This record gives sequence, structure tokens and C-alpha cells, in this order.
Amino acid sequence: MSGPSTYVPSNGFTRWLDARLPIVRLGYDSFVAYPTPRNLNYWWTFGAILSMMLVVQLVTGIVLAMHYTPHVTLAFASVEHIMRDVNWGWLLRYMHANGASMFFVAVYVHIFRGMYYGSYKAPREILWILGVLIFLLMMATAFMGYVLPWGQMSFWGATVITNLFSAIPLVGEPIVTWLWGGFSVDNPTLNRFFSLHYLLPFVICGIVILHVWALHVVGQNNPTGVEVKSEQDTVAFTPYATLKDAFASVAYLVLFGWFLFWVPNFMGHPDNYIEANAMVTPAHIVPEWYFLPFYAILRAIPDKLGGVIAMFGAIAVLFVLPWLDTSKVRSATYRPMYRTFFWVLVVVAIVLGWLGSQAVSDETVRWSQVLTAYYFFHFLVILPVLGLIEKPKPLPESITAAVLAKTSVH
Ligand code: HEM
Repeated sequence: MSGPSTYVPSNGFTRWLDARLPIVRLGYDSFVAYPTPRNLNYWWTFGAILSMMLVVQLVTGIVLAMHYTPHVTLAFASVEHIMRDVNWGWLLRYMHANGASMFFVAVYVHIFRGMYYGSYKAPREILWILGVLIFLLMMATAFMGYVLPWGQMSFWGATVITNLFSAIPLVGEPIVTWLWGGFSVDNPTLNRFFSLHYLLPFVICGIVILHVWALHVVGQNNPTGVEVKSEQDTVAFTPYATLKDAFASVAYLVLFGWFLFWVPNFMGHPDNYIEANAMVTPAHIVPEWYFLPFYAILRAIPDKLGGVIAMFGAIAVLFVLPWLDTSKVRSATYRPMYRTFFWVLVVVAIVLGWLGSQAVSDETVRWSQVLTAYYFFHFLVILPVLGLIEKPKPLPESITAAVLAKTSVH
């Protein structure tokens, strides 16, 4: 996509290095000269915001790990020690906990942006699939991270979620015992969760590199969904995209700072300030907000195995999304019917999240069932059928034509 390299080493050292390890050339071609569609809007800055949040989580997490102790008798106290005794420990801990939430806000925006503009369609299927894989790993990492402070919600959340595997016929129980490393969530569980919580972010980093590589092979999609046709349709990544990404990242940090310094516990649960106790079950066991829509889907199905299948199915369906959407047109801007269904899906996801936060009642279960059914209906029926019956609006000739039509004075 970026075409032949345009990098010219400027001095003796860079010429010497370029002949041996062309790493400066790689950086230049990928982040300086790289041609970017000229019409990208701010929804395209979330990839950069996500990269920033990944770094924030890694740096704060590594420093936290220097003061944290993964043992059931010490974990809770070591987190309190971080909050009270370690220099800037409160900031590190609040940054990491709120950072996880901000990471998920950004990833949900990024995913729905991809859905709105049809960024998952050919030739970007692999790019999308790598994204869904990152999303899955993020959820696994966040789930295990939440167990580490060893509060009541850590313990009971871990107990409820790991127990789900017992629904698998025949091998379910042995699998749960194996996951726990014993007969309940206990010290071996905490230890392995800590180990994996440290490891997985680095796996995510590796897949993000593949994600960006795949992106640079096929090039970015854009708000029109029409492919780049000529040089006129693009601008150089630096300074245009670099500055825009930097501005959006700073704006996002301001929002992050607002949570961090004004309401640092807003997205947490008060029960997690009570040390884990296997003898006292909290009245309502609720996961973190970013899991709630999936939690509602899990609880919608009265059968345990069915619930687990539906919950994982809700993510699995995203892997095959590029083949479920039969429309040739990418962007929702030119797909009036799809645009409506897209917004209905957004509302359904939000309401499912709200239902996931409520105590179980006949009402919440019934609504969760209706909305779960609709969620799958959207992907498995609406998307394939819509591509066949919808009459898209006429597409612009090119990205440049779309930009000029918007900006020209008549
Ligand atoms: C750590 C998490 C992630 C990081 C750091 C990341 C990074 C990026 C970056 C830097 C871009 C280019 C800029 C942009 O379009 O915003 C991008 C594009 C893209 N990402 Fe991600 N991403 C992540 C997660 C995901 C997930 C979870 C999905 C989907 C499930 C996804 C799907 C896509 C797609 C389809 C594009 C191409 C968009 C287009 O050109 O229209 N990404 N990503």
C-alpha cells in the first residue's frame, strides 16, 4: 500500500545502518511517508489512542508488580500498601484500574467505528480478525487482573466465571479443578492469574504489531468506504495523521484525568474494598462494566451450558462478520437501512449492559432474552439479507470527489 520506499538516508551512519538493519526505513515508510486517506475523521484516531492506553497499562502494571504480592494472605494488604505507603502508589493503582476502563471505552468505539464504516470487509478480513483476537485477549487479561486485589468481587467474580466451564459435558468438572489448581479459587489460582495477567499484555503487543502490519498492507478504509484511487486521495501520515492522533490522545488523557482525579472509584465496585472471604457471598455479583452485555447474554439462557455457548457465540460471531455482511458497499453513509440497524444494535448493546448490571428477575431475564435473540438476529439474518435487498445511495467517484463536494462553495 505504501508503495516503494521513499526513504533516503541522510548521513554516513544512517546509510551504514540502512544497509544492515533498515529499521529507520521501516519507521519512515510506516509512520512518515505512509499515504493516509485525506478524509479520515476523528473516529480514526482511536487506534492511536488504544496504542497509548496499551503503553499506559504496561508501564503502570510493571511498576505495580514491583510492590504487589500474589499470595492470598498478602495480596489485599499489598494493594492497600501501594495505595498508602508507596510513593505515588495511589496514582499508579488508580491509573491502572481506570486505565483498563478507558482502554475498553476506546476499544468499543474502535470496534463500532469498524462496523459503521464496513472496515472489516475485503480486503481487511485478517486485520479485523486480529482485532477480535486482541479483544478476546483484552477480556481475559482484564478478568484475571480484577482477581489480583483479592477483594470480595475479585474472589466471587473469579468463582462464578471459572465455574462456567463446569457446564461442559463430561470433562467440565476436571477442567475447573485444573484451572483452579485445587478445589476452589485459592492461592494457586491467584498465582497463575498473576502470571498470566503479566504475560498476556505482551501477547497483545505482538498481535497489535500484526494488526498494524495487516493495516499497512491493505491501507486504511475511510468514511466513504471507497478505496484510494490516486495520490490525490491521500496525504502523508506525518504531519497530518500524527498531529491529529496526538491531539485526540491528549483530549482522551483529559477525560482519563477527570476519572482519575475526580471520581477514581466511579467505575469500580465498593465490595472490592472488602477482603475476599469464601464464607460470605456478596448480594449481587457483578462484573466490571465492560463485561456487562456479555454477562446479560449469559444470564438470559436458563441452561448453564446454553448460556456459556451464547456468551462465547456473541464474540465468535464477530470473527465471521466479514462473510455475514453481503453488501458490496462498505460505509453506512451510503447504506440507509444498514445505518438504522447499526444504531439499533448500539442501543441493544447498551441496554444489554444495563440489564447485566441488574439483579436477576423475571423481567430482566425476559428482556435479556429478547435482546440476545435480536443481537444474533442482527448478525445472522439482518446483515446477510440486507446486502441483497438494500438499495445503496450512489457512491462518490473518489475520496477527492467526496471531499471537494463537501467543501466547494456553490
Ligand atoms: C489494543 C487494541 C488495539 C490497537 C492498539 C489497535 C490499533 C489500531 C490502529 C493503530 C489502527 C489504525 C488507526 C485507526 O484506524 O484507528 C487500527 C485500525 C483498525 N482496527 Fe484496531 N486496534 C486494536 C483493537 C482492535 C479491535 C478489537 C478491532 C476489532 C474487533 C480492531 C479492528 C480494526 C480495524 C478493522 C481497523 C481498520 C480501520 C480502517 O482503516 O477503517 N482493532 N487499529
